[in-house]
Amino acid sequence: MKAKNCLIFGGSGQIGRHLIRKLTKNNYRVTVITRNIHQKSYKIKTQANAGYIEIVEANIFEENKLRKLIKNSEICINLIGILYEKKGSTFKNIHSVFPSIVAQLCKEYNLKHFIHISALGINDAIDSLYAQSKLEGEKNILKNFPQAIILRPSIVYSVDDNFTTNFMNLLRKLPIFPLYYSGKTKFMPIHCSDLTDIIYHTISNNINSNIIECVGPETISFKEILIKLLSLIDKERILLPFPLQLAFLTATFFQLFPKPLITKDQLRLLKYDNISSGKYKTNFDIGVPSKRIFDEEVKKYCYMWRDGGQFSTEKYEK
Ligand SMILES: NC(=O)c1ccc[n+]([C@@H]2O[C@H](COP(=O)([O-])OP(=O)(O)OC[C@H]3O[C@@H](n4cnc5c(N)ncnc54)[C@H](OP(=O)(O)O)[C@@H]3O)[C@@H](O)[C@H]2O)c1
Repeated sequence: MKAKNCLIFGGSGQIGRHLIRKLTKNNYRVTVITRNIHQKSYKIKTQANAGYIEIVEANIFEENKLRKLIKNSEICINLIGILYEKKGSTFKNIHSVFPSIVAQLCKEYNLKHFIHISALGINDAIDSLYAQSKLEGEKNILKNFPQAIILRPSIVYSVDDNFTTNFMNLLRKLPIFPLYYSGKTKFMPIHCSDLTDIIYHTISNNINSNIIECVGPETISFKEILIKLLSLIDKERILLPFPLQLAFLTATFFQLFPKPLITKDQLRLLKYDNISSGKYKTNFDIGVPSKRIFDEEVKKYCYMWRDGGQFSTEKYEK
């Protein structure tokens, strides 16, 4: 059977790399767009067999280039997203303007599918610029390409993430760890492979929902996540409820760094539960339930954050 051409924006990230493996193994040919081929190509090209992957360096706002790429594709998937703003890379540009342009071109060239990855909880988090820009992006997309599919994942984890791995790094080093909002914010973490199963399902079946919330099988609070990670890396730490004013003060300082640990906007986002809303279909409703359990999955890679590294695993126990 002829391989289908799939264009992926943001394919060098956590979700992108998992997705390239999933799609190319299932006879899709992918073209991955990156800002810097020299920096990212080695990460991207190892995700698929030769002949199934092409990597293109592009400025995502260069319309002529976008046109050529989209014209030659049947499916387009947008995974580009940022957690904090930098010069030129604003939430508005990345989450609202760019998806709107891509949706318009997908419509113009009559693409079969346009899948956009948004984020869970953006209707509620009204004071977060991140959430506002994601919501505006969704509206623009649906205006320009009404049959687009928008996936809203809760927090996504895997060995390649910036979530469990960053927290394990910090928990390993710091004697005390701050609990924002007393650690009560709830999440439904979804494993990256479960999310890519959902993306695959949406492009290989006819799904007639525009917005799908993508959640894992468990609801876990921020404090419970930290307790689970501490237990997995075999450490005991003080989890200290942090006064909000102090949290915002430290975030003001942190966001001056090139890769901030936390920003004020992320603090605002953290105030809202990140769980299914009941207003939209979830991956469970469309027949792709997520199966992977947080503890069981993180257990597979957490050993490098334990004392003894690989020697702390059952494999090396006498
Ligand atoms: N991970 C999560 O927990 C989570 C949860 C909810 C929603 N999401 C959404 O899911 C999508 C993918 O997430 P991810 O975790 O895979 O993200 P990621 O690992 O941070 O990767 C994001 C990708 O976006 C591209 N990118 C970043 N800034 C860009 C810019 N200024 N211009 C052009 N491209 C840029 C990068 O590509 P190059 O560097 O190759 O150009 C990168 O590969 C994002 O939209 C994110 O908001 C993620």
